[in-house]
Amino acid sequence: MALAQRLSRLGTETAFAVALAAADWKSKGNEVYPFHLGDINIPTAAHIIEAMNAAIQDGKTGYCPGAGIPELRAALARDIGSRRDMTFDPAQVVVTTGGKPVITKFLQAVMDPGKGVLYPNPGFPIYESQIEYFGGNAQAYRYVPTDNGFAIDLDHLRAQITDDTVAIIYNDLQNPISAESTPAEQEAIAQIALEHDLWVLSDEAYFEMRYEGSSRSIATLPGMAERTTILYTFSKKFAMTGSRLGCAVAPPEIAKVLSTMNTNDESCTTHYVQWAGITALEGTQQPVADMLETLRERRDIACELVNATPGLRVDVPRSTFYIFPDATEAVQRVGARDVSHFAEMALHETGVSFCTRRHFGRPQPGEDREYIRLAYSGINADDITEGLTTFQSWVASA
Ligand SMILES: Cc1ncc(COP(=O)(O)O)c(C=O)c1O
Repeated sequence: MALAQRLSRLGTETAFAVALAAADWKSKGNEVYPFHLGDINIPTAAHIIEAMNAAIQDGKTGYCPGAGIPELRAALARDIGSRRDMTFDPAQVVVTTGGKPVITKFLQAVMDPGKGVLYPNPGFPIYESQIEYFGGNAQAYRYVPTDNGFAIDLDHLRAQITDDTVAIIYNDLQNPISAESTPAEQEAIAQIALEHDLWVLSDEAYFEMRYEGSSRSIATLPGMAERTTILYTFSKKFAMTGSRLGCAVAPPEIAKVLSTMNTNDESCTTHYVQWAGITALEGTQQPVADMLETLRERRDIACELVNATPGLRVDVPRSTFYIFPDATEAVQRVGARDVSHFAEMALHETGVSFCTRRHFGRPQPGEDREYIRLAYSGINADDITEGLTTFQSWVASA
């Protein structure tokens, strides 16, 4: 008996492997400072939990429509639309089990085997995995460091496009880099999509996870609404990673297909969680503001300690909950073979656990700098200080 051939092309989110290594180290009695997973150690707000419990008590425990309950679709259309200055028909909203399934379903909807999809690399690793799993050509585009964070290398991106390219995945407020497009960069991406008649997946998982400035969806630019599918998730904004609730906001023909895929794959997203989603959207937003304040404090502590560490450097990001320092000199300083070895040494010498650039897509030819990613969403300020101070001393004394 053989397994399907396409499995050889299935990637994964290797950050989970880092979590296993950290858990193993901890189980041996060692202190671990978890900077590896983009999970949040802040509980879901009490009023959302109450709404979920009330929905269970109220018998919202059976199947419901594949595209989501109409009340949640309407609430999402209103909320996502008003925050982007756009108008959406609830029929364009398809509720999903978190944001991640939108990636898979979007690709299946627009990409035939052999077709190309542009995607950010470093980027959320599921893009590359799913493009290849479904037989597509993964066309990586890259970022370059600037005086003010990272920018998309637009010339390189244009050079990846072929006659077979059908779509681009665009993740403004980016994981793992925390890069944010300037208006001009976003307009250039939109122009490329229009010129080459591409579908767009706008991954907006972190749209509201920002500390300064304001977010703009690429879908608002002229000619973009009809080609753009927005990935939305409750995971980050409402600290609901384990509840698995998100949606796609898509052009009608795509929404229809995604809804049919839901019926095939899950039947529906957990019924009572959807009712809690309405409360999250329409209830008090104070817990979101409080969480962002907590995360801002963590960001500032983490960035200061990272920049005080010899051989590490990072710009302070205005959004997400990741920092992506250049660690090239620190890797050399401690005598690590490469950045993976550096991460392993750091865990064993200091308990600080993090992902590296290599967890976010295959490294591209010509990359000569090494980066690590620290997530500060799952670790308290005191532990950030303790962990990164220990880490700093370790690197400094090497
Ligand atoms: C860029 C990006 N997109 C999508 C997701 C998926 O989020 P969810 O947990 O809602 O599936 C994540 C999660 O970390 C992410 O970082």
